[in-house]
Amino acid sequence: MKNELVLVLDFGGQYNQLIARRVRECDVYCEVHPHTLTLDEIRAKAPKGIILTGGPQSVYGDGALSYDVGLFALGVPVLGICYGSQLMAHALGGEVKSAEVSEYGRAEAEVVESSSRIFSGISGKTVVWMSHTDRVTKLPEGFTVTAKTTDCPIAAFEDTARGLYATQFHPEVMHTVEGQKMLRNFVRDICGCKGDWTMGPFIENTVAALREKIGSGRALCALSGGVDSSVAAALLSKAIGKQLTCVFVDHGLLRKNEGDEVEAAFGSGSGFDLNFVRVDAGAQFFAKLKGVTEPEQKRKIIGEEFIRVFEAEAKKIGAVDFLVQGTIYPDVIESGLGKAAVIKSHHNVGGLPDYVDFKEIVEPLRLLFKDEVRKVGRALGLPEAIVNRQPFPGPGLGIRIIGEVTPEKVKLVQEADAIYREEVANAGADKELAQYFAALTNMRSVGVMGDGRTYDYAVALRAVLTSDFMTAEPARLPWDVLAKVASRIVNEVRGVNRVLYDCTGKPPATIEFE
Ligand code: XMP
Repeated sequence: MKNELVLVLDFGGQYNQLIARRVRECDVYCEVHPHTLTLDEIRAKAPKGIILTGGPQSVYGDGALSYDVGLFALGVPVLGICYGSQLMAHALGGEVKSAEVSEYGRAEAEVVESSSRIFSGISGKTVVWMSHTDRVTKLPEGFTVTAKTTDCPIAAFEDTARGLYATQFHPEVMHTVEGQKMLRNFVRDICGCKGDWTMGPFIENTVAALREKIGSGRALCALSGGVDSSVAAALLSKAIGKQLTCVFVDHGLLRKNEGDEVEAAFGSGSGFDLNFVRVDAGAQFFAKLKGVTEPEQKRKIIGEEFIRVFEAEAKKIGAVDFLVQGTIYPDVIESGLGKAAVIKSHHNVGGLPDYVDFKEIVEPLRLLFKDEVRKVGRALGLPEAIVNRQPFPGPGLGIRIIGEVTPEKVKLVQEADAIYREEVANAGADKELAQYFAALTNMRSVGVMGDGRTYDYAVALRAVLTSDFMTAEPARLPWDVLAKVASRIVNEVRGVNRVLYDCTGKPPATIEFE
């Protein structure tokens, strides 16, 4: 791949991935690297621009993260954000001090230099997002102030002759109203990127590269029906057709119609020319789960059984040359930067390489963010039901049924969940939700239906807002929508006489129920 490149050097900021995503939204390819990337390594990558992230440190504190001052003389435009701006000022002879007033959150910045290219198209006052205690108090020679706030007289500065730009605030967060425009001004205008990062050429290049790499070899993909494994399979199928085998293990704990949707998308009659194996293993999973109520034990059983089933299928196929994994860029950044993975010790197909006989792993999505994966999926003709799928845990409905899992209970929660999803989507309320689903509690309570007494289950509805799934807020769904969902569930799903809405955040609750 020979795309124009903008590098993000990470100094431990919270928003490193967000910066990269915003740059990619300008159709410019962007990579995140730790601040330990050397100057020679940077030169070798020949970036068109470099962005320094924020970070929790003080430039003058013990163990401050610094960078070779040669970075600012590479002749490549640099944008320092927050800590990055302080690092730039400090390295070039300016002064950074702890501010008398820390600024956290919304601030109003005033552009004071109308000729600044970073602020091109933005004039007067604009709302920005601040999060700092230190700030630049004296600029290095050659720099001018381009924006100020009430508490921060040097909120942005630049030295156009050297191509160095800095903002104390965070243009990458959405609360900075004109932030995207500022980043676009930097990468497209100042760095001169034309914008060659679009998904059409990505697909063509990746398909060509996969063909070359795999040749006449065989590849195996564990297809879960989730967005990442589906798009990876679609790309591979375009590249190598029938040399690819996809194994889809239906553990009987999927949402309503999900197994059939995956089969319709990839099986015979779909537009994809590959070997598709669906294993209907529901009965096997239910047998193992009989009488088990302890959540961790349930998770363990489902995870292990999944591996056993996949292993048995892989054995039938025999040795393959390549194993396909749906790794995406956030996973790469997190492992590369030595951070903890976002998801806890969960069941997913990440552990497969240990027991499948293969020579090499292929990860065709390892450069993409989730929104880019979805674009590729759409361009390859995958149905919206798959491309827009919300995250769904490996153990499936098994952890959305409190207590023992039985086929009858799975049916109940599938029906309730389908109604919930349909009504939320009809009301157009699904767009801002990170995840929402129905779960089946193990509580039975007394109700009255017709003239008779009932003693049935309670369904719990959950809807959360979150960007990282580590913490989450309960969504405030419109009451009318909830009332309609509750009414439909008790009327249409036999065995349920009560619907509860979960108003708990994470922490203290988790998103799933078990
Ligand atoms: P919790 O319940 O821990 O969930 O707040 C956080 C996110 O992780 C998903 N999740 C899983 N994903 N395998 C997965 O692939 C799992 O075992 C698993 N458990 C939870 C959950 O759906 C939510 O998005």
